[in-house]
Amino acid sequence: MASKLKLHQTDEILDVSAGTGLLADMVMQKSGPFKRLVLNDPSEGMLAQAKYLLRHHAKVIEFTSHFSENLPFEDESFTQIICLNSFHYYVDQKAVMAHFSRLLKPGGTLWMLDWNRVGLFKVASFLIDLLSPEHINTRTLEETRQLCRANGFTVQDEEQWGFRVWRFFFLRCEREEKSL
Ligand SMILES: C[S@@+](CC[C@H](N)C(=O)[O-])C[C@H]1O[C@@H](n2cnc3c(N)ncnc32)[C@H](O)[C@@H]1O
Repeated sequence: MASKLKLHQTDEILDVSAGTGLLADMVMQKSGPFKRLVLNDPSEGMLAQAKYLLRHHAKVIEFTSHFSENLPFEDESFTQIICLNSFHYYVDQKAVMAHFSRLLKPGGTLWMLDWNRVGLFKVASFLIDLLSPEHINTRTLEETRQLCRANGFTVQDEEQWGFRVWRFFFLRCEREEKSL
């Protein structure tokens, strides 16, 4: 994701599941500071690590703790939304995608990278869900692309690849001008 992202200092950015802030640390070094950077994660433990990692940028980063199904930001608050390695955790993925569409300004970009439920990885994903205490709902690239389109996004770039048994997809979508 770090190699794909194209961010500018004028951007208003939401990383919806920022985890320990590893990606934010990279983008801050490469292209920051930004007009607005919000690092969100419902896990206070993850956020605590992100706050420590990014302690030298504390004044220019907002940290929030919400589930992606319920993001309480105003409509059209952001020019960029990043969703990295977390969509498969979301219980209500349709609601999350509707939030992404609502929160992005027209012409804004949604960046997604996640597990891809194709081939043998379908079995691996099923087993991970079975054995993990967490909710795992891995989607295919095609399913995610359809969900994006149904929520007012135009797909601009996509890619899928494998690493050992794992399968991944990347999607870059633009929020269409016309609101839903
Ligand atoms: C595998 S980590 C990825 C973190 C970060 N994006 C990265 O790649 O380093 C997945 C993150 O999704 C978060 N998460 C789980 N369920 C979520 C939800 N419903 N809404 C928002 N974030 C969620 C977890 O707390 C965790 O930090």
